[in-house]
Amino acid sequence: MSLILGIESSCDETGAALVRSDRTILAHRLATQEKHHAPFGGVVPEIAARAHVEVISPLVENALKDAGVTLADVDAIAVTAGPGLIGGVMVGLVTAKALAHAAGKPLIAVNHLEGHALSPRLADPALAFPYLLLLVSGGHCQLLLVEGVGRYKRLATTIDDAAGEAFDKSAKLLGLGFPGGPAVERAALAGNPKAVPLPRPMKGHAEPHFSFAGLKSAVLRARDAGLYSAEDIAASFQQAVVDCLLDRTKRAILKAPHATALVVAGGVAANGAVRAGLEGLAAKHGLPFFAPPLWLCTDNAAMIAWAGAERFAEGLVDGMDVQARARWPLDPSAEAVRGAGVKA
Ligand code: KG4
Ligand code: ZN
Repeated sequence: MSLILGIESSCDETGAALVRSDRTILAHRLATQEKHHAPFGGVVPEIAARAHVEVISPLVENALKDAGVTLADVDAIAVTAGPGLIGGVMVGLVTAKALAHAAGKPLIAVNHLEGHALSPRLADPALAFPYLLLLVSGGHCQLLLVEGVGRYKRLATTIDDAAGEAFDKSAKLLGLGFPGGPAVERAALAGNPKAVPLPRPMKGHAEPHFSFAGLKSAVLRARDAGLYSAEDIAASFQQAVVDCLLDRTKRAILKAPHATALVVAGGVAANGAVRAGLEGLAAKHGLPFFAPPLWLCTDNAAMIAWAGAERFAEGLVDGMDVQARARWPLDPSAEAVRGAGVKA
């Protein structure tokens, strides 16, 4: 049995967690930077990096205290080494390297996306490889065949914005506040999902890729038309995103007949309408459905510690020369998709 310290700092949450290979979460701490970024309506990289520096050392100390262990009890230190905002990633990586060096422990450089991808296995031991994963977060929207630890086949990606990005931008357009995803979901509860006619980009397309930029522009036009309430636009937008995710995921299910389960992970997986829609889709195809608890969907260090535990079990550790990476695709062999920009 191994005990892993996990550290996360790739976006606007600083996290530290202690997780055992038997899936026991001994401690997990999270410091959110919401109030630092709220005045700007989005994450400001420079502010994020500074805020990580301020809290990361006490956060790790407190997580160790919560767990009732010391660094000497830890078997390895797992840290997000990318992809993400490079300043923040470097803060976490340097912290982890210093701790690993001082305590003489192995370092495990975790891909943040692998943290999300394996998080459903932390939540549920019944989830076995290979599974079809819809990874929907603020920076990514991908369908992946997860064949094993470190073995990801990308079936689809977004050709422009990520789904979470569309939630965040739409929330900003509608004046619903930051962070956008939960704000849109709350507003949508009071709106009519059929009130505003919005497009379903890529629906019916042969390849299961995504596109959300047009949907965001349509939200802007609906707002400026002055005919609809923010609640009706939010509800209609959320429904359009769900319809797109379901149509594209259905296509991927047909392309991955060996997948044993349908799984969702990443921040947007916290959305109730998204979860419910996917659960229905999985049932229709006779697939078991897995979604982590809400707190494990959005960024946290428990998923990084767990990915570390999975890698450690396979003998995958890294040298002290490992670098922080702003970009780090899970499937390096996946071809760039036209118009995909940095999100491929
Ligand atoms: O995985 P995550 O915490 O960070 C990234 O790695 O990107 O995902 C954050 C994204 C944001 O775009 C946020 O608006 C979205 O997940 N999100 C949601 C909800 N909660 C978070 N989107 C829709 N509904 C939610 N309840
Ligand atoms: Zn994330």
